[in-house]
Amino acid sequence: MTSDARTQVARGLQGPALVYTALVFFGAACAVVYVSGGEGESGVRAAIRLTARTTVLLLLVIFPASAMLRRWPGAATRWIVRNRRYLGLSLAVSHGYHALFIGWLYASGTAGDIPAATVYGGGLGFAFLAAMAATSNDASQRALGANWRRLHLAGIYWVWIVYVASYVPQAATNPFAALIGLGLIGTLALRHVPISTASADAA
Ligand code: HEM
Repeated sequence: MTSDARTQVARGLQGPALVYTALVFFGAACAVVYVSGGEGESGVRAAIRLTARTTVLLLLVIFPASAMLRRWPGAATRWIVRNRRYLGLSLAVSHGYHALFIGWLYASGTAGDIPAATVYGGGLGFAFLAAMAATSNDASQRALGANWRRLHLAGIYWVWIVYVASYVPQAATNPFAALIGLGLIGTLALRHVPISTASADAA
């Protein structure tokens, strides 16, 4: 691929196009795991697990976006910060599928005994994600003023907490959970460890 073509691809994959891509790509991936997972309840549960994972991958990019740009200014980190709103909406799309398949479990009477902590903790996570997606536009940002930042900060931290609570306890027995757990803690460190300390350590 020529560098012109690469630039075109990079330009194309930004802004609202990212969200439409997420809608189609995650939808297709869910259909594939639903069918290969044996359809019915096992297929639905496979799609729930898949969407939990696609969401957390996006979270690992969005949560430390500004901190990464400050530490490692470059084309990739600038692209992430420039497209953070659309990456956030793509995350909401991914978790919209999570919600859709959970609704499917309840509707088919196969949800079983989902722990109360998942129902209420995860339910609050869905409420935050819905509010964040609905306000991810300039007009809402202007209208809400400082509350916009409070909402988005509280929401992203809550979703981060739900993921830590889901994956960290399984880390000793599940390598994927361990990897994601490390990633989640790493993103928190990126946001909170001052850059001067990091460069002093490196020196
Ligand atoms: C922001 C909200 C939520 C987050 C971040 C979240 C995250 C997760 C995670 C990390 C997993 C494990 C995936 C894996 O095995 O790798 C999972 C699975 C699951 N979630 Fe969610 N969840 C949320 C909301 C909910 C809610 C509200 C419910 C139900 C009322 C729910 C029901 C389930 C079920 C049933 C599974 C297990 C599927 C299976 O393995 O059979 N989730 N979720």
